[in-house]
Amino acid sequence: MKYHVGVISGDGIGPEIIREAKKSLDAVASRYGHEFEYEEILMGGVSIDATGYPLTDEAIAAAKAADAVLMGSIGGDAKTSPWYQLPADRRPEAGLLGLRKALGLFANMRPAYLYPELKSACPLRDSVIGEGFDLVIMRELTGGLYFGKRETGEKDGQKYAVDTLEYSEGEIRRIAIKAFEVAMKRRKKVTSVDKANVLDSSRLWRSVVEEVAKDYPEVTLENMLVDNCAMQLVKDPAQFDVILTENMFGDILSDEASMCTGSLGMLSSASLNDTKSGVYEPSGGSAPDIAGKDIANPIATILSAAMMLRYSFDLEEEACAIENAVKKVLEDGYRTGDIMPTTGSTDGLHKVKCSEIGDLIAERI
Ligand code: IPM
Ligand code: MG
Repeated sequence: MKYHVGVISGDGIGPEIIREAKKSLDAVASRYGHEFEYEEILMGGVSIDATGYPLTDEAIAAAKAADAVLMGSIGGDAKTSPWYQLPADRRPEAGLLGLRKALGLFANMRPAYLYPELKSACPLRDSVIGEGFDLVIMRELTGGLYFGKRETGEKDGQKYAVDTLEYSEGEIRRIAIKAFEVAMKRRKKVTSVDKANVLDSSRLWRSVVEEVAKDYPEVTLENMLVDNCAMQLVKDPAQFDVILTENMFGDILSDEASMCTGSLGMLSSASLNDTKSGVYEPSGGSAPDIAGKDIANPIATILSAAMMLRYSFDLEEEACAIENAVKKVLEDGYRTGDIMPTTGSTDGLHKVKCSEIGDLIAERI
């Protein structure tokens, strides 16, 4: 089959990690007889430089027309980059939010799995890690604080700023359904995370999720307050199967979960709507401090490409081939700098560059 893949290389380490993910996709293409046709789509800082805007109508149209979109990362150094002299709605991040909204990508799936080989890169103690963990965060992606009404002004001689956290029943129900569907294919447990002891939006969240749960009698639903969840993630991550949560909580908890897997460079993600298309991107940022040095970890992007094969193209075997190749490379002792053990022995481990680990993974497909 021939697939038309929109590619947003973006800024910072984006072009490097995308280049490595394409190597794996091309290896899949030649082994399984597919064809991936790539179309570069401008978004973020590179789009600002070219057009003055982080996301153009043309880019949205190209993303919509693609069978799926693979994305690197966007954004720069907020202190030094001229992009951050622009008003907030013209900065790189606004492009990403605009794309999520334009494509209706309400469901963001972020799997956090601790590879046994990376236990020594995990900052948690062995007694906490135990047999490891395998969880997935289902983050609502087009509502809440990110898209609520905002305002900055001045009253009584002081500046003030307002952000609004609003959710409708429908917005909660559709992400809850996705989370329960995912749980049905896993260990059948959903932990819905909210702040229902304080927020109205969380009380509505909890009641809608409890309604949806009635349609999934095989799935155990647990409600957890977000502060407790942040604590439980570093106390006993193995208790979680599917974490279902709103946009902002999911943003924060997914960075925390990623660090428990060893590095932000390990966490893949899929942003989905109700069609077969989707945007696949690593959960980490553009890391401008290491951009262009060929030392970034491309594994999250490579695993995101595997998710694209699975969820947008229904290529389960091919997705597994990429995931197994990543596993094999880790078993063979290859590591980018971020996943080298911070303490203890490095015997049998080889520190490699971004482009090298990309080649090693592609070779094993
Ligand atoms: C993420 C990122 C984005 C977010 C930023 C870049 C706007 O942190 O995908 O988690 O907050 O959603
Ligand atoms: Mg984030």
